[in-house]
Amino acid sequence: MRIVATDRDPSLWSGDAMVLFIIEGKMDPLDQLGEEIATLVKQKASRLGFTGKEDGLLVVDTPGGTVGSVYLAGLGSADGATPDPWRRGIALAVRQAGKDRNKRIMALPGGAATPEVHSALAEGALLSEYSFERYKSGPDPSEKPEPIEELLVHGGDERSLARGSLNAIAQNFARDLVNEPGNVINPAGLAERASATARECGIECNIFEEEKMREMGMNGILSVGAGSHNTPRLIHLVYHPVGPSRERIAFVGKGLTFDSGGLNIKPGDSMRSMKGDKTGACNVIAIMKAVSELKPDLEVHGFAGVAENMPGGGAYRPDDIIRMFNGKTVEVDNTDAEGRIVLGDVLAYASRQEPAVMIDMATLTGACAVALGPYTAGIFGNDAALAASFRDASGRTGERVWELPMDDERLKKKIRSEVADVVNSGGRYGGAITAAMFLREFVGEGIKWLHVDIAGVDSSDEEYGYYRKGATGFGVRTCLEWMEKYDKH
Ligand code: BES
Ligand code: MN
Ligand code: ZN
Repeated sequence: MRIVATDRDPSLWSGDAMVLFIIEGKMDPLDQLGEEIATLVKQKASRLGFTGKEDGLLVVDTPGGTVGSVYLAGLGSADGATPDPWRRGIALAVRQAGKDRNKRIMALPGGAATPEVHSALAEGALLSEYSFERYKSGPDPSEKPEPIEELLVHGGDERSLARGSLNAIAQNFARDLVNEPGNVINPAGLAERASATARECGIECNIFEEEKMREMGMNGILSVGAGSHNTPRLIHLVYHPVGPSRERIAFVGKGLTFDSGGLNIKPGDSMRSMKGDKTGACNVIAIMKAVSELKPDLEVHGFAGVAENMPGGGAYRPDDIIRMFNGKTVEVDNTDAEGRIVLGDVLAYASRQEPAVMIDMATLTGACAVALGPYTAGIFGNDAALAASFRDASGRTGERVWELPMDDERLKKKIRSEVADVVNSGGRYGGAITAAMFLREFVGEGIKWLHVDIAGVDSSDEEYGYYRKGATGFGVRTCLEWMEKYDKH
């Protein structure tokens, strides 16, 4: 899909469809259409009770007009600061246009639309177009929507559209990686994708293999990966700015290419979808690719701990005591609480680079999904200002986050161990928080740290807004949005 800014008079444009955006109860955008068409649209709207509610879409065929269809996308009250209703509105319209075989469409966001709205339109359109079909031979052509060739954004500016496109392409890249199953992307495979990406973008890449990790004392990652024939990897990507770097920041991702639970094996239903347990790592790779194009004045590091958690003769076991990279010892209560063990090593290793800020993303706990549901990620950290700036960024990207508390000293006792420094599971209650408290043990002194638990939001089992079934790439845009503001602070 080409996305192009235009100032052409919409009434003289003869494409396939137009998209108008309706704040609830305010039909005045229809004035941009000719009177005859506007009347037709208004009639259908009142007949079907379309008033502009959020996520509503009205489709009107306008055979007499210069375009064949008009789509009205509902924005709801649109009083919030977020452009997300626009993003979802264009997503629904683009999806409908694909079904209707409309190839050239024009979005009319109106003269008051901000650059953020224009970016959001590009994002929504490209995100909604995403599909993962590379393993399907012959889809039924009558069922398959056809891609849109051109989206014109009236009154848009190229810069905002390009920025939105970059964000969406990064998120879709993460989705593509996550959607690959464990038999296609194992730890070596993900490391290979990371280094190929780094080569293309001209950023630095270091991959650590088993032997090297053993020398370094990365026993957390090694233990988790020990039950699999597919040996683990540590990925380290670095973007160096052209000019002097103002600061160093790091993104860290959990990369379980498959999480069977290990010896504490998951029941079948819960094991399904665990190819998605590498989402944090895939997000980091996608973010680093975008960073190489955004070129901030920051030195940006991307780390991912990558392993496959399997039961097997070499597998780590409950009761094991592991000496981690930073020297702390971990008692294994449950081999299915593997993400925090992997991340413990990666966070400690990343801390050695002394970043000012470190943000990790992990599909860490089912408890987080239980607490917040499938549309909101949990955030945790040691710096209120960092959490606030991330929350602000999330308000703009529409990727919902909610902060959970880290100051419950009584709860912290749940990860105390009789025989080691910490135990890897604090039980069911407050499970997302005790997992975050475990991670905190591996964050270097003085580093501002934020943990994003994306279990629950990493993949979707329904189609909504700009998401489809499958990987969402949730978190990529918020990290980029946060970074852009941080770069300027
Ligand atoms: N990868 C899972 C968490 C998860 C669950 C992600 C559901 C996405 C959807 C993680 O490794 C895990 O298994 N966590 C356990 C921790 C428990 C054993 C303390 C969990 O959440 O049950
Ligand atoms: Mn697990
Ligand atoms: Zn896991």
